[in-house]
Amino acid sequence: VIDIRKLYGSTGKFTYDPGFLSTAACQSKITYIDGDKGELLYRGYPIEQLATKCDFLETCYLILNGELPNETQRKDFVGRVTQHTMVHEQMQFFLRGFRRDAHPMAILTGLVGAMSAFYHDSTDINNPTHREISAIRLIAKMPTLVAMAYKYTIGQPFVYPRNDLSYSANFMRMMFAVPAEEYKVNEVLVRALDRIFILHADHEQNASTSTVRLCGSSGTNPFAAIAAGVACLWGPAHGGANEACLNMLEDLQAQGGVAKVGEFMEQVKDKNSGVRLMGFGHRVYKNFDPRAKLMQETCKEVLAELGLENDPLFKLAMALEKIALEDDYFVSRKLYPNVDYYSGIVQRALGIPTALFTGIFALARTVGWIAQWNEMLSDPEYKIGRPRQLFSGYAARDVKPIAQR
Ligand code: ACO
Repeated sequence: VIDIRKLYGSTGKFTYDPGFLSTAACQSKITYIDGDKGELLYRGYPIEQLATKCDFLETCYLILNGELPNETQRKDFVGRVTQHTMVHEQMQFFLRGFRRDAHPMAILTGLVGAMSAFYHDSTDINNPTHREISAIRLIAKMPTLVAMAYKYTIGQPFVYPRNDLSYSANFMRMMFAVPAEEYKVNEVLVRALDRIFILHADHEQNASTSTVRLCGSSGTNPFAAIAAGVACLWGPAHGGANEACLNMLEDLQAQGGVAKVGEFMEQVKDKNSGVRLMGFGHRVYKNFDPRAKLMQETCKEVLAELGLENDPLFKLAMALEKIALEDDYFVSRKLYPNVDYYSGIVQRALGIPTALFTGIFALARTVGWIAQWNEMLSDPEYKIGRPRQLFSGYAARDVKPIAQR
């Protein structure tokens, strides 16, 4: 690792690295990925252990504070989060200004940004207490906002949080309960959703996290910085991939399903087609994404619980994966399923509409974004992010009068 600042200092030299393929923009103690081994650790703990031995709020505590909580700390943290699950009543009026057919991510980007207008009593970034309260508020209110965005788009009344339920059970109730009907929590499905949240909680310096850091480096408030992360996550090359992946599987199913897999793969391999196998490939993982394995297991558990073992999209996804893993195009480029490959099928089975998949991802990633933002602000070396450029335009030239242009 070369510290370019020490090497070049103020000599005017800089590196050219579009897409940050080999440039580290910060130091971090939060998440470690070994892309060749397919290893993912939050604060040193393997994702496989966290996903099977901890719940999402314990994982949040770990990501924020660096250590897993003991029982007293866990209870205290859960109490603090649940105390903040309600959102300001007036946010409803803001939400009602959106068209009902708006994409939930458009609504969510707006709602999270608007939090800075509703919670400006915790926006002093130099005050550690403000930073902590903002973190708790964001983690606590995201499920409420995502569920509100959903209920609004389907024309149903909002369901207020119930703080006697777990984080994930409360979210499912806010999403799916309807007036005058009792909502029964299915623990297998709640556990699956909780696992989705754990798997998406942080992933070091991905595009949206880097966006949050860059945006936050100007000293803006946490809600504005996280809203920038939500906006970045929306793109199909990032958090929008699970939505794009499910759309791809549904289209392929409509065209003939497993029988058409070979033809579709030829299209994917044709560089001029512009078609990619969504949910495959990763900038860092050049081996299996460990989250994809856990997601595939979760997918099987959820489908079995719901009696959907023969789900045609799951079969189609497995058929595509099998072909891809044996095809030289994918093998030579080290393209393996990423976390998004199976998460869409799980979420669809849980009853979550496709357009909300990225919203679920945003909800889960909020803890990672806020922990990374906080880590950046706590670093004595932190500076405003200001990438350089390789200028390829005109040299200086004179403005001609309009008649001569
Ligand atoms: N299908 C077909 N070919 C692919 C795919 C894919 N899914 N992904 C990469 N390739 C090919 C590229 O065409 C390129 O081929 P070439 O070397 O012959 O030109 C090669 O593999 C390398 O791909 P890049 O796009 O250069 O890799 P990069 O690291 O920039 O992109 C990315 C990674 C964006 C994830 C890419 O693999 C992709 O578009 N995947 C599909 C979208 C997706 O699943 N995104 C989710 C990422 S995980 C997350 O955000 C949670």
